[in-house]
Amino acid sequence: MFYPDDVVEEVRSRNDIVDIVSGYVKLQKKGSSYFGLCPFHHEKSPSFSVSPNKQMYYCFGCGAGGNVITFLMEYENYTFPEALKVLADRAGIELPKQEMSKEARAQADLKMTLLEINKLAANYFHYQLRQPHGRIGYEYLTKRALSDDTIRHFGLGYSNKTSDDLYRYLKGKGYNDNILKESGLFTISERGTWDKFWNRVMFPIMDTNNRVIGFGGRVMGEGEPKYLNSPETKLFDKSRNLYGLNFARSSREKYFLICEGYMDVIAMHQAGFTNAVASLGTAFTTQHASLLKRYTSQVVLTYDSDDAGVKAALRAIPILKEVGISCKVLNMKPYKDPDEFIKNLGADAFRKRIGEAKNSFLFEIDVLKRGYDLEDPEQKTGFYTEVAKKLLEFSDALERDNYIQAVSREQFINYQDLKQLVNRTAARLGPAWAESRKRAGYGDYADPERQIPRPGGMESGGTRIGPAEGGARRAGPGKREKEDGAKQSQRLLLTWLIEDPRLFDKIRGIITPDDFKEELYHKVAQMVFDGHEAGSLSPAGILNHFINDEAQYKEVAALFNASLKDSLGSEEQKKAFSETVIKVRRNSLDEASRTAADIGQLQEIIKAQSALKTLHISLD
Ligand code: GTP
Ligand code: MN
Repeated sequence: MFYPDDVVEEVRSRNDIVDIVSGYVKLQKKGSSYFGLCPFHHEKSPSFSVSPNKQMYYCFGCGAGGNVITFLMEYENYTFPEALKVLADRAGIELPKQEMSKEARAQADLKMTLLEINKLAANYFHYQLRQPHGRIGYEYLTKRALSDDTIRHFGLGYSNKTSDDLYRYLKGKGYNDNILKESGLFTISERGTWDKFWNRVMFPIMDTNNRVIGFGGRVMGEGEPKYLNSPETKLFDKSRNLYGLNFARSSREKYFLICEGYMDVIAMHQAGFTNAVASLGTAFTTQHASLLKRYTSQVVLTYDSDDAGVKAALRAIPILKEVGISCKVLNMKPYKDPDEFIKNLGADAFRKRIGEAKNSFLFEIDVLKRGYDLEDPEQKTGFYTEVAKKLLEFSDALERDNYIQAVSREQFINYQDLKQLVNRTAARLGPAWAESRKRAGYGDYADPERQIPRPGGMESGGTRIGPAEGGARRAGPGKREKEDGAKQSQRLLLTWLIEDPRLFDKIRGIITPDDFKEELYHKVAQMVFDGHEAGSLSPAGILNHFINDEAQYKEVAALFNASLKDSLGSEEQKKAFSETVIKVRRNSLDEASRTAADIGQLQEIIKAQSALKTLHISLD
């Protein structure tokens, strides 16, 4: 969706950043800014700052930063239009209606209607729980130790034994058969239409914005299937939704807990573990993993302790690793699942188990071991060889060595012996294999003792072994440093100008936005200079232009919030400012001379270059 700049800016400027942020974070005033504990990473002392002047927030700990709009996007995980809508409503601003194609309109309308139907159904089921014929459902839930608060929080309900009461209820609200069919709540045949859920306790499944997109229902007593889920619909895609994520996403824990079922999620939340989610009636998918990656980079698997649970964990581990989530596995024994564990041993014992959860690699080794009879020397050797092979999954020599140490400790294998076995196994697997890994950018497997720096690793110091990949494109260290220096000067200068707009007078006639050669800085500089000219320099407003690119708005936010201690007070700082201005200008002229179109232009540049040599900027 596209909103004009002035609309976005109006919405932003009519919502005060301190107002908004203090709804989420306890803030304390210190000087001209407010400080609090950062809601985006874990910390014990406040490094999260909110500046009323700049209308921006910035965390000196984790680098999170932005304006009111990005704050809601990050904290509530809203999309840009969602955040804008919330802030517009709050300020009483009406957003312009968005133009949509006819089909897009129809699709959006259909989704809206399905959401309405789901919401009505959820309320209907919830209401039944309090009716005499719904007693059986309510008693089931309380017998499973769920409190009234929990039942309300998760919107739990009951579907009656009557075979078509929900259908009649929704027909009464004016919905036609076609749309009701799309909702997945009914079975429609020539013989009539029936409620799909019947005599079950109902679990509404919500998306991250708390909208009901489907249902799970557990049968009362014995019966098949034990759990019945809504089919996939226009709203409900099982591989892209996680039960409990609507709550877990704002739990502010560093890690998430992943479990198997509805009751596990609910039991954990009730016990205070509001960071628990489950993939529903389906195995954990790559889409689930990418969804989670938006909120966390660490998970603890709390799958059932039976074979199926172990299998599910073994499947999930590589999927999580693939998207960059590191993972541990909780030992549930002697209980079957989190629900039973917590009921029997309580929340504290569960928290303790979380603390003891096993590194996923060591868990995999444990499971691997179960397939071998270690009393038998041949099988024992086979196990060790498999362990060695698995250790070769780590391409980084240091990381691999850490794991060799951990495995040797855990499995009582002599460290030197295991290390040698790993090296021999690498050699045995053949040079072709090692070569293919090496070409892919990994270390040298044939001889793990020899540590070759990997591309992209630390490049300073030491010469590269072998020809440099990429040939001419790879810049030598000298050039790289010079570029970084130029970038740094531009950043510093921009920061100074924003911090103290009086400095614009000092650089008039020397520096223009075109001297900022970094593409992003050039854009920002243009807006900063324009804003200053117009007498309305607004850092938070400038940030609006970068909202669609997280990496960019973070960099710009950092630029606007760099801490300049004793801003230009000391002689040293004054000298640094003068030098920075000259550096930025010199770099700009150097670049211009490389791309000069004709001799006349070149002469101009040379003149400017020599003028720069005698330039002195006085701040007094
Ligand atoms: P309770 O007996 O209610 O405690 O079940 P549980 O939480 O111990 O669940 P179980 O380990 O049997 O199953 C875990 C999850 O798998 C459930 O929450 C469902 O999402 C799913 N599941 C279980 N049984 C079925 C089934 O028969 N059909 C489908 N589609 N999903 C099921
Ligand atoms: Mn259970």
